[in-house]
Amino acid sequence: MSKHILLAVTGGIAAYKACEIVRLLKKQGHTVTVAMSEAACNFITPQTMQALSGNPVLTQNGGAGNGMTHIQATRAADIMLIAPASANTIAKIAHGFADNLITEMAAARKCPLAIAPAMNVEMWNNPANLRNIQQLQRDGIHILFPAVGEQACGETGIGRMREAEEIAELLPDFWSPKPLYGKKVLLTMGACYEAIDPVRGITNRSSGQMGAALARACRMAGAEVYIVHAHMQAALPVGIRHIHAVESAKEMYDAVMQHVETGMDAFISVAAVADYRAAQVSRQKLKKGQCSAAPVIKLTENPDILRSVAMLPNAPFCVGFAAESENVLANARTKRQKKHVPLMVANDVAVAMGQSSNQIILLDDEQERALPQMSKEQAAKYIVVRMITLMRARAAKAAAAKPKAPNETVKPVEKKQP
Ligand code: C5P
Repeated sequence: MSKHILLAVTGGIAAYKACEIVRLLKKQGHTVTVAMSEAACNFITPQTMQALSGNPVLTQNGGAGNGMTHIQATRAADIMLIAPASANTIAKIAHGFADNLITEMAAARKCPLAIAPAMNVEMWNNPANLRNIQQLQRDGIHILFPAVGEQACGETGIGRMREAEEIAELLPDFWSPKPLYGKKVLLTMGACYEAIDPVRGITNRSSGQMGAALARACRMAGAEVYIVHAHMQAALPVGIRHIHAVESAKEMYDAVMQHVETGMDAFISVAAVADYRAAQVSRQKLKKGQCSAAPVIKLTENPDILRSVAMLPNAPFCVGFAAESENVLANARTKRQKKHVPLMVANDVAVAMGQSSNQIILLDDEQERALPQMSKEQAAKYIVVRMITLMRARAAKAAAAKPKAPNETVKPVEKKQP
């Protein structure tokens, strides 16, 4: 869904990252108007921002305005983003000051406001700044919390503005509906690796892209997301606090079970789990010529994580994947039954593995729906929408089946107005 974003840039070395934010937001299909404080103009020029955004840039003294720039610009915007937001601007907004174009906009706006602070570690940790941040949160302002890292001043610590890619990825979360708010969703993703010796192992071609896209879709839908991942070629989604890296199927099983014990609402098993591992892992590197014949590696079966979770008495809502090289639908049907999974996503490995697009079939008790080829990001949204529908139907069924308490009176059915 394309939006109109008002990007306000305040003074700070991180202003250069705002150029990239404009480019990325436009790439996502949004329109952007840039407003710059006087200090911001010392770091980057309005001409740069005009060229990148394709729109006139609003500055303190710029243009033959009618003095209503702060009203008009904020009324036209779906969201205002201040990036970078300096400690000074944050303090002013927290106290309701409106003494320059940016703070006037923040005060006059009707649209939501998100800020990406950028400052030195000591300035960030200054109790006055932390109080101001808390005040902004109380006022319903979204904070894109800064990262820890090396700073322009040479010091290291919290205060670095989030990278442009992260901000552009997280911004749509602020306007997307939150049907999974309050729900905990656990996902496995990536390619498991089963060691044969200290150097070699058995793995597969899974890139982790589908898992990352699904985690992003769940985060956008408001879920608290937990990730257990094996080897990933794709970048992990940003803004997720609970991330557990593992290598083998056994480690993944243990991590998943630990998380499930804490109470998950849904479990999406996207990981390419190795079905078998070496029965004996050699402690030393296997060498050529040690035996007269080529060595034989004996395999033993790994636990089926998805099935184990789905069979638990109070299992979360489980979503499985059937990546098949032949008879996709038939194999997916069998797998869904065998693993006791309410929603199975089937795809052909030739179309899906390592690709950025996918062609999926959604199988559940009510339907089998084949979707056309689309990006993994889009496919993830379809999967999450179907998962939510089925979770709601299941909750409604459970509520209806619950025995009524003796004092629970049946409400008379209200007659509808003609
Ligand atoms: O049996 P198969 O590997 O084809 O099943 C695929 C589905 O089961 C995927 O959702 C995968 O994440 C999950 N799986 C699992 N543990 C295994 C094997 C597969 O959780 N040992």
